[in-house]
Amino acid sequence: MNRSATRPAEPRDLIGEPVDRLPTPSVLVDLPTLRRNIGEMAAYARSLGVALRPHWKTSKCAEVAALQIEAGAVGLTAATAGEVAALAAAGFGDVFWAFPPVGAPRVETAISAAKSLRLIVGADSAASVADLGEAAIAAGTAIDIRLEVDTGLGRTGVAPDRAVRVAREIAATPGLRLEGVFTHEGQVQGVGADAARRTATGLAAGRLVADVAEEIRNDGMPLSSVSVGSTAGARSAPTVAGITEARPGTYVYGDENQVAIGTVEPENTAITVLSRVISVERGEPVLVDAGIKAMSSDGSLHGDGRIGTVASAHGGVLATGHEEHGFLRGSAGLRVGDTVRIRPNHACGLSNMHSHVVAVEDGVVVDVWRVLGRH
Ligand SMILES: Cc1ncc(COP(=O)(O)O)c(C=O)c1O
Repeated sequence: MNRSATRPAEPRDLIGEPVDRLPTPSVLVDLPTLRRNIGEMAAYARSLGVALRPHWKTSKCAEVAALQIEAGAVGLTAATAGEVAALAAAGFGDVFWAFPPVGAPRVETAISAAKSLRLIVGADSAASVADLGEAAIAAGTAIDIRLEVDTGLGRTGVAPDRAVRVAREIAATPGLRLEGVFTHEGQVQGVGADAARRTATGLAAGRLVADVAEEIRNDGMPLSSVSVGSTAGARSAPTVAGITEARPGTYVYGDENQVAIGTVEPENTAITVLSRVISVERGEPVLVDAGIKAMSSDGSLHGDGRIGTVASAHGGVLATGHEEHGFLRGSAGLRVGDTVRIRPNHACGLSNMHSHVVAVEDGVVVDVWRVLGRH
């Protein structure tokens, strides 16, 4: 069998070539936009005097993390054991794992990662870190723990009025050190397009976690960090007195859901899916090769069920999709073989669907980055 004849073009072979030569669907990351997003958030955090620790689940690319650190981020935030292991393997030195270390595989990952990097682990109860404490003692080490406080999202996180009690329990657990408190103010995104309400919600979350930190300190437990984190709340929560760190993630790429609520401008969205028109036989919709497996099935904050939004001049939306077929509505003048760029609803969900992304500049392929630590 002649393998070279049957093998589709590898993106790496196309470095230096025009973007339209890429196989489709391909995830494109526009480098100038990415650099601008990274630089602006870093400058903003600096202006507030808070440390920036971007959530890496958005890109899962070592190259993006390196740009964030280069721009001044103190470290990175991770959600999964795969992400923590990938960051350790790539040589990053400071990671906050914002997820309860429950189950032996997570405990093993934490103990192993803590050997090569500074690790902080998030938790909302003593029960969730009991095994980690024991493993730390067995390994002759101690692990820093950040107590998660629920400031309104209603996910993980201790209720504020129970925080001192749980902080005491964690601080008293051998093998663990209480390092700080954190919250993910995802409820700010849930507010939607009302900018004033978003600001009020973000400020309230910041104040609540800062107040909880004060109560814990007044109870005799020193804390180094009081950390907030989200893209929709990035302009409000970290501005509160007492907040020491911000952990936005999505900002690095932007996505259509942030555009929908007005927290990212369309031109600041660095990530799109390059897709090709495969059929215009039906007139409307036009069929493209980006379906659910290319876009992810993350919901749209536009509320109309779309799976993507056309970013190129043709306009329109990816109204729905099958696995490999996308149904484009409202696009003008498309012919079979034309390429369109589509903004995903949710950048972080999109990254996890793909093994690599293609870095582009001025319509030319400049690099191919692996997406690490996928499920
Ligand atoms: C714990 C934590 N911190 C920070 C973030 C970053 O939020 P965003 O993606 O809105 O920037 C997330 C997002 O899910 C999160 O779960």
